[in-house]
Amino acid sequence: MNVSASKSAHKPMRLYINVDHVATVRQARRTDEPDPVEAARLCEAAGADGITIHLREDRRHIQDDDVRRLARSVTTVLNLELATAPDIVALASELRPHQATFVPERRQEITTEGGLALELGRGDPKLTKAIARLRDAGIRLSLFVDPDARVLDAAAELGVDAVELHTGTFANAFPDADEALERLQRAARYARELGLAVHAGHGLTYRNVRPVAAIPEIEELNIGHSIVSRAITTGIGRAVEDMRVAIRAARVD
Ligand code: PXP
Repeated sequence: MNVSASKSAHKPMRLYINVDHVATVRQARRTDEPDPVEAARLCEAAGADGITIHLREDRRHIQDDDVRRLARSVTTVLNLELATAPDIVALASELRPHQATFVPERRQEITTEGGLALELGRGDPKLTKAIARLRDAGIRLSLFVDPDARVLDAAAELGVDAVELHTGTFANAFPDADEALERLQRAARYARELGLAVHAGHGLTYRNVRPVAAIPEIEELNIGHSIVSRAITTGIGRAVEDMRVAIRAARVD
């Protein structure tokens, strides 16, 4: 696999952590734990450069109140992923996160399955309107797209600041992912030539992140599920010990 690590040596890379799945666990019981706001605070304390959340139309994990609380409490920056639902665009324009990333959304999907279907000269009026509204609110704008030159041309035409390259195809193919990696490398170069900042994310894990992190044009990674998963397995031992202590305290005379 062609990992161009030397070219990107010491170049900074922002790590934004997606805390959606902390809310997924909370929503399994509709209770108040675990709290994505507390998780975001801990991520920041551990060195995260930003916090990412996706307010989905079906509100399956992150809730409106989470977005409001995070907009107040995040001390790094907040990156809000959203589709073009008018109530969510209105919330974004009111709360003014540092960055908004437009993503496609389908109700039945388990997670965001592909990038935005953009075509040069054929803008989706809902997306164009939402972009204008959030740009007027002073929010940095990014579009989640597949690593495809024609889609990147269309993204540039929309006048956004950045694109987030969908790394899902690469992640699914890994470790036999040379072709998908080359597509990401080419797309990252081309996006920079178009004057777009380049972000990437989706499906990145501790095993597969390296070749993507080595692409020199990429300046921001958005990673969620793998980090939340590892937090559960690395933290569960301590959680059991804490419960033992709580129970033992009830058994002393
Ligand atoms: N970037 C975007 C645009 C996403 O929709 C998601 C998933 O919500 C991510 C990054 C993070 O993906 P993962 O949870 O697989 O790391």
